[in-house]
Amino acid sequence: MKFFVDTADTAEIRDLAASGLVDGVTTNPSLIHKAGRDFLEVVKEICEITDGPVSAEVVALDFDGMMREAEIVRKIADNVAVKVPLTIDGLKACKALTDDGTMVNVTLCFSANQALLAAKAGATFISPFVGRHDDIGFDGMQLISDIRLIYDNYDFETEILVASVRHAVHVLESAKIGADVMTAPPAVIRQLVKHPLTENGIKGFLADWEKTGQKIG
Ligand code: E4P
Repeated sequence: MKFFVDTADTAEIRDLAASGLVDGVTTNPSLIHKAGRDFLEVVKEICEITDGPVSAEVVALDFDGMMREAEIVRKIADNVAVKVPLTIDGLKACKALTDDGTMVNVTLCFSANQALLAAKAGATFISPFVGRHDDIGFDGMQLISDIRLIYDNYDFETEILVASVRHAVHVLESAKIGADVMTAPPAVIRQLVKHPLTENGIKGFLADWEKTGQKIG
């Protein structure tokens, strides 16, 4: 399963990339607001850090507006994936852009039927939001299982990009279901490395090493 980082914080992306944990990056207008930086400038910087897909979201809601904005963002770098909302105009833009060789991430997916439409429109990625789904009392991970089943039934090549990931169990379940990608905030990715037995083990080994009185090198 590929790991995308869900942030516009370039220092965080650089740091995680050094551990080989960044296969791509997702941004959205809220994350750009949080970073407090110029949208096009930050996307360009992220594309210089990673060769993987970098999702940059258009904000127009009509097809012509989306295409105008997509034209600007896709020129930033070859690894930009234009992010469009799951609407009829978004699907039209998805089809036009993917037919033209541009990666497209269809975002704000909350049903398996929506995911089916995105695949039919040729989406490179579909982004089902598991955390926001859980928030309103639906089972976000069930949505991922349903989409996996449907995509496998028809050999759709659209990659399932699990979004709105809030904790380690979302990551684990995504991997068990066979999602292609998950995108999570840096803090969630860092949390995955933690285990009390690892920490205790390090402490124990260091204590015994001290007793040997040796040094390496
Ligand atoms: C995905 O592309 C979105 O940017 C993101 O995962 C949304 O997560 P949230 O529901 O925690 O805002």
